[in-house]
Amino acid sequence: MLNIKEITRLLKTRGKEAYALRNQAYAVKVENVGKVVHLRGIIELSNYCTKNCFYCGIRRENKQIERYTLTTDEVLECAQFALDAQYGSIVLQAGERTDPRFVDWITFLLKEIKKLSKDRLGITISLGEQNEKTLQTWFEAGAHRALIRLEASEKKRYTQLHPNDQDHLYEKRLEAIKLLRKTDYQMGSGVLIHTPEQTAESMARDLLFLKSIDVDMIGMGPFIPHAQTPMGYAAGIDLDEQLQWGLNMIALARLLMPDVNIASTTALQSISPHGRESGVLSGANIIMPNITPQSYRAKYQLYNGKVAIDENAQASRDALIKSIESIGETLGLDAWGDAHHAQNRQNK
Ligand code: 5AD
Ligand code: SF4
Repeated sequence: MLNIKEITRLLKTRGKEAYALRNQAYAVKVENVGKVVHLRGIIELSNYCTKNCFYCGIRRENKQIERYTLTTDEVLECAQFALDAQYGSIVLQAGERTDPRFVDWITFLLKEIKKLSKDRLGITISLGEQNEKTLQTWFEAGAHRALIRLEASEKKRYTQLHPNDQDHLYEKRLEAIKLLRKTDYQMGSGVLIHTPEQTAESMARDLLFLKSIDVDMIGMGPFIPHAQTPMGYAAGIDLDEQLQWGLNMIALARLLMPDVNIASTTALQSISPHGRESGVLSGANIIMPNITPQSYRAKYQLYNGKVAIDENAQASRDALIKSIESIGETLGLDAWGDAHHAQNRQNK
């Protein structure tokens, strides 16, 4: 296995050498999870958030955005769209909330979506830190994969990216991720890639950490500054460099963890029009098309320049299929597309 020194060196490669690294990772992807890209229609349920992460545009203290929560009918229409579009799976994502009203609403939505799709849609939750009881309730209601990004695997850096208070405890976040393994969820995590002053060695540690907790799925994207946040000072950052770090991180994640699901995230596409395809060609096998109703998209700006804000869901579906086929991949339509790693883990 690659050691930290080698990973660090490879993360720093650019040009021809980076191209070779990504090609190698792509070959490992094809060999282990096939020439297939699985889709998850992502529904951004609400931009209310009780947290205040320094990097994020929908943090609690950003008073400049209008807050929204989709109606139940709107969510179910999105789910119906995903079903008709043969996406196979959806992700329910929102700012973090743990109040009973929210928890009950999610439980209700999960059951309704399972009903309307006759169990054809797989459901991933991306709803932050929750307690065991809530996770169990949501699992029984129909969610079977969960994604909680650790954002930074080193405590020191985690505390630089988050306020120093009870709502943002490194230990608690780590516990929440490990709880997913205790319950029956397929467990996903990830990090913010190349935050200000982060070294390549620190990024290598992030990757080794994800491997050490035995994740089934990885969702990670490069840090992109948002002006209305405490990290807006990084506005001048070189976005092409962020893309290069992002692609190299995907490639190394694939080399280190050959059978997990790895998302080619929206952040890549926001930097480059072909960012998502480049992600797949660097080893990713999951794309998450945004299916949130168009009128809400601009209000879910986690970072400046987030794409697909004015593209409708049907138009993006057509464009996506074309672009995926153009790189010689097929789409895993109508399939849940669970991580091979989860299967292999359970067989062990
Ligand atoms: N740049 C990139 N990704 C971001 N996220 C939040 N803010 C940013 C940003 N400025 C990501 C976080 C979070 C996910 C929902 O969005 O990693 O987990
Ligand atoms: Fe809330 Fe997540 Fe943004 Fe943090 S990253 S402020 S938890 S939506």
